Amino acid sequence: MADAYIVGAVRTATGKKKGRLSAIHPIDLGAAVVDELVDRTGIPVDAVDDVIFGVVMQIGAQASNLGRNVSMASKLDLAVPGTTVDRQCGSSLQAIQFGAQAVMSGTQDVIISGGVEAMSTVEIGSNVRDGLANGRGIPKGERLELQYPGIQFSQFDGAELLAEKYDISRDELDAFALSSHQRAWEATQKGYFEKEIVPLNITLEDGTADVHTIDEGIRPEASLEGLQGLNTLREGGVITAGSASQISDGAAAIMIANEDAVKKHGLQVRAKIHSLAVVGSDPVIMLEGPIPATIKVLEKAGLSIDDIDLYEVNEAFGSVPLAWAKAVGADMSKLNVNGGAQALGHPLGGTGAKLMTTLVHELERRGGRYGLIAICEGGGTANAMIIERMSEVSH
Ligand SMILES: CC(C)(COP(=O)(O)OP(=O)(O)OC[C@H]1O[C@@H](n2cnc3c(N)ncnc32)[C@H](O)[C@@H]1OP(=O)(O)O)[C@@H](O)C(=O)NCCC(=O)NCCS
Repeated sequence: MADAYIVGAVRTATGKKKGRLSAIHPIDLGAAVVDELVDRTGIPVDAVDDVIFGVVMQIGAQASNLGRNVSMASKLDLAVPGTTVDRQCGSSLQAIQFGAQAVMSGTQDVIISGGVEAMSTVEIGSNVRDGLANGRGIPKGERLELQYPGIQFSQFDGAELLAEKYDISRDELDAFALSSHQRAWEATQKGYFEKEIVPLNITLEDGTADVHTIDEGIRPEASLEGLQGLNTLREGGVITAGSASQISDGAAAIMIANEDAVKKHGLQVRAKIHSLAVVGSDPVIMLEGPIPATIKVLEKAGLSIDDIDLYEVNEAFGSVPLAWAKAVGADMSKLNVNGGAQALGHPLGGTGAKLMTTLVHELERRGGRYGLIAICEGGGTANAMIIERMSEVSH
């Protein structure tokens, strides 16, 4: 089996719901990160074998094979194809997994894997609402109804069930949400995200031009008192808007290459994709999957959780990484060290590649060796991946 190397990783800074990126089309967001990879790596525009993009709401501006639309809108040659993946919130981590597997199998040499979600334009749940409103049905047939009678799968219920199962209190959640904002703001101020972010030219509401370089959802003024004062999303529950991931606009992409392509195009190897896993788990709790996915990927890697230097576990809700850490015996000081989706946002289809981009750069900054990503997904699936830094330490 060939090795799959990460030779580039970039992301946009995220925009808040109806915020600074809301006027940018998702195809243009995606093309911006693809173009940046082409510029930074110097790869010839016809040397990429495929563009694999994750996006969750495949409707409206994000319909009709967004991955191909991104490849056409980018600098890449028209002969470079494109395809689209839906693994719910892990869509672009799955895009990276498919890209890595294509390279590992020896069938392709260079893949761009990424993802995007313009949640201001294409609202979360709009595909299901469209089905209901226009008589196109709901995504639950007779067989699933028999298995889960009367249950409407909901991430909000899952977040509460997970908190209950792993005994996570409102206090723990509020403290974790606060630390997410504090870490994200500190990383921003110290410039840790500068290398990974593609500056985007934007036009503000008043018509003035600006450049978007900072994740818009971070609340530098966040306080424990403020978080404690928020109402829970479910009556009697523990999750609030503060301990939920934010609705965001954003894109990210990774370039994956084999050794031949690295030599041929003079690419810089940043990290090796070490081990991959994807699992299914209970779709009602829905968000527990990162736990078995992590156990599986560690087994495949022949590593223990203590061997890992950094973990990125998506903060879909605060209860997800907190439950995960308890279950796998993780060291909290290595978890989401530059904040997570509670502060930085969760542009659904783009999040896997966004977390991967941050992980690659932070491993380089700290000189860590192994990094692990795990993401919970609608339907109870979860992807997990371990990468190994190969590049020089960059600080
Ligand atoms: C939770 C959710 C419904 C909240 O949406 P919203 O109400 O539009 O969110 P807002 O940002 O307006 O926050 C709601 C309130 O909480 C406040 N708030 C949010 N985070 C806060 C924080 N960290 N500190 C203090 N106040 C905060 C806001 O200021 C706002 O207050 P206001 O009503 O007085 O203006 C939305 O973020 C969501 O759906 N998140 C999950 C997305 C998702 O499911 N993704 C997939 C994961 S599986």
